[in-house]
Amino acid sequence: MKNIFVINGPNLNMLGKRETNIYGNKTLKQIESECIKQCEKINFSINFFQSNSESEIVEKIQSISTHFDGLIINAAAFTHTSISIHDSLKLLNIPVIEIHISNLHKREEFRRHSMISPLANGVIFGFGPNVYNIAIYALQIGWENENQ
Ligand code: DQA
Repeated sequence: MKNIFVINGPNLNMLGKRETNIYGNKTLKQIESECIKQCEKINFSINFFQSNSESEIVEKIQSISTHFDGLIINAAAFTHTSISIHDSLKLLNIPVIEIHISNLHKREEFRRHSMISPLANGVIFGFGPNVYNIAIYALQIGWENENQ
């Protein structure tokens, strides 16, 4: 069974209330339960972590390396700034999928630069909360292809 870990960065705990014109109406809990349902169907396990603190995210990345098969990360605003999250991702040798709910290229210039992308296997953004499900699918087909 594959184990997926999902990290959500600052202000994503406010989904459903926060800039709903950009991020939609679903809460993080609702998004997580949809991911759990998706994973149950394909017999994957999935765990979630959200923090508004850069140091907590770094510590979490340091701790997951041996326990999980794939990481999905929406580092939110830290995406654009965090050298420490960038460096901690270098510790991992599991697939990393970077996601964003919004289309970063339709927004402010400062959102176009990502500290995460150079360490990610792939990046998915702009499809609303579905990016979480698409990322699970990306991991799934990656693993299926490895076994062929
Ligand atoms: C975000 C995009 C970031 O620029 C922003 O700071 C967020 C959310 C997204 O999911 O679209 O908090 O990562």
